[in-house]
Amino acid sequence: MTSDETPGAEKTQPEAEEPSPNKPIDERLQKLVDRAFYGGGSESAQAIRNFLNGTWLGEPLHAALTDVPLGAWSAALAFDLLDCFREGPEFAQAADASIAVGLAGAAVAAVAGLADWSDVDPPARRLGMFHGLLNVGATALFGASFLCRKREKRTWGRLSAGMGFAMVLASAKLGGEMVYKHRVGVDRTNGQSFPEEFVEVMNHSDLENEKPTRVEHDGVPILLVRRGSRIFALAETCSHFGAPLSEGTLVGDSIVCPWHMSRFALADGSVINGPAVHPQPCLEARIRDGKVEVRKSTCGRIQYALPFVPANALTGEGS
Ligand code: FES
Repeated sequence: MTSDETPGAEKTQPEAEEPSPNKPIDERLQKLVDRAFYGGGSESAQAIRNFLNGTWLGEPLHAALTDVPLGAWSAALAFDLLDCFREGPEFAQAADASIAVGLAGAAVAAVAGLADWSDVDPPARRLGMFHGLLNVGATALFGASFLCRKREKRTWGRLSAGMGFAMVLASAKLGGEMVYKHRVGVDRTNGQSFPEEFVEVMNHSDLENEKPTRVEHDGVPILLVRRGSRIFALAETCSHFGAPLSEGTLVGDSIVCPWHMSRFALADGSVINGPAVHPQPCLEARIRDGKVEVRKSTCGRIQYALPFVPANALTGEGS
């Protein structure tokens, strides 16, 4: 389906589905999280998700925020150690303050992580659930440690912090596995190479108007969209999780991914709405001798102010 306006179609978003008791626990949990973050497809919910995903940053916000609790809690352990060998309250106070900073950072990182996880597909989804649960456990232990310290039970506080730190390291290992093994948060177009010079990819007469079309060059899929006399060309693999954008929905001069509804500007591949954070590689397109030709381009990225389209108003149909 194509439209310049809000398409009036049935929902494809997760909030449209009821969590079924027969589904795996991670899937049911994800649907509940989806409901909270999609907020019925409202503009403000989308803006919040864009912020939490890191669409504005160009990298996943969660990955940056996790440094705060990890760094602060590492410092807390070091201060605890120093406190064992030095006189005076300074190191104990520094350890307490570090734990408090870590708790605040963990809370913010958790919200950003949940927003990311709501759009993670198997097999990384289950891994993400355990990663989150370990983080909750670690945060609880550091919270208990903080309370113990405030009640002058410093030995218990140190013990609790030590266990929390072990748990957060286990969680970090799972987080690393999600990124490096399952490529969560990694630009899925990385490694794709596009022609430096113009190459033919299809007959111009075969390119239907307003129909996202997939072509290939050297095995790399390319998305072509003809809108009247203009032809847009982008990488066809969605940078978020690798969905085929040719199966997405055209909304004016943008395309919405069929899997998690990221929205990209056709003119330059900019991310208009997440969960994607990396722009689509953009190509130049021209017509020569009845053929569509493309080549790699930076397309001069510009800021887009395209109209907001409620997520639950979009379909996954490609035309
Ligand atoms: S694959 Fe997730 S938004 Fe495209």
